[in-house]
Amino acid sequence: MRVLLTGGAGYIGSHTALCLLNAGYEVVALDNLSNASPEALRRVEELTGKKAPLIVGDCADEKTLTAVFEEYKIDAVIHFAGLKAVGESVRKPLDYYQNNLDATMALCRVMPKFNCSILVFSSSATVYGTYPEMPLREDCPTGCTNPYGWTKWISERILTDVAAADETRSFVLLRYFNPIGAHESGRIGEDPTGIPNNLMPYICQVASGKLDHLNVFGDDYPTRDGTGERDYIHVMDLAEGHLAALKYAESHHGAEVFNLGTGEAYSVLDIVHAFEKANDLTIPYQVTPRRPGDIAVCYADPEKAANGLKWRAKRDLTTMCRDAWNWQKNNPKGYEK
Ligand code: NAD
Ligand code: UFG
Repeated sequence: MRVLLTGGAGYIGSHTALCLLNAGYEVVALDNLSNASPEALRRVEELTGKKAPLIVGDCADEKTLTAVFEEYKIDAVIHFAGLKAVGESVRKPLDYYQNNLDATMALCRVMPKFNCSILVFSSSATVYGTYPEMPLREDCPTGCTNPYGWTKWISERILTDVAAADETRSFVLLRYFNPIGAHESGRIGEDPTGIPNNLMPYICQVASGKLDHLNVFGDDYPTRDGTGERDYIHVMDLAEGHLAALKYAESHHGAEVFNLGTGEAYSVLDIVHAFEKANDLTIPYQVTPRRPGDIAVCYADPEKAANGLKWRAKRDLTTMCRDAWNWQKNNPKGYEK
């Protein structure tokens, strides 16, 4: 089975490419390299001993997509391609709506021309907005607080409507919680541009001395220690969730939503202390005011994925912290040569 990974050179895409190749799938990646390096897939090839051709191009462009489908017989698509920075989406909403929605619609248009009916979509826990009751179940009310979130919400809507109109389609919509960590080899990992927005890459850069301390955004939330709690999931567990989703799609029609999370919530300070313990390092931090738009707590109910996809996250927080640091310390400049 050959799988097209849009955004396949990115953080989650490259880890999923590795899992798929190791499981015997063929992989083709389409990425415009707006937030990735071709080096990621070169290293995936080095780790697996298998080829993963990369086509550099825009997934929102139907001509480009058509050319990919003409060149390769594609059996399924995993659609990672998208812009993902929440703050940037507030400043540049049209860029986000155009890139993220056009890519989803272009795939929906081109895939049936080549009898390709299976699509796995990268959605996000951000579609639960500020819904306060935890854990979050797939049938909880949704609604977003920023343009990035709305692009995921609207893409889910589009895919659900398209699947309802055409019974041959098999769409799996995966709502990721907070992916962190890296492949255990330390050869592939998360390579943010500039100063990281997200907690784990920020901690890694403090550990490496690139940044001098972590700002903890608020310690007055109604949580165990006052800092924000999230459901952190190892990127390799997340990658394996995509294999499970592909298998599910082979025997189901329609559109179905699944959370990919662990069901465990850790606070910012839990992460700092776990990172220090796992790696025998000290992370200096100071508490600053809350970051606008952040919620207190967000964690998944993982049971629907456990029952439907026969998948559960396996790796613990110590492993996440160890693998994140292993990648950072071996690649202080990311993929840059
Ligand atoms: P990433 O930025 O590393 O990967 C996305 C990839 O898509 C990049 O390689 C980028 O170059 C590519 N891309 C963007 N627009 C494109 C286009 N029009 N055509 C072709 N390629 C394009 O991000 P990631 O963390 O690997 O995320 C993958 C997906 O998962 C994204 O859709 C993201 O929104 C979603 N997601 C990520 C997180 C997270 O915390 N990392 C959480 C929830 C959902
Ligand atoms: N945090 C800090 N300091 C930092 C960075 C983050 O204290 O420098 C805190 C945040 O306030 C939050 C927690 O660490 O409490 C996690 O923050 P992240 O930025 O790592 O992750 P978010 O939960 O804010 O957002 C992530 C993705 C979004 C996605 C969302 C839900 O970045 O794209 O998860 O899936 F929408």
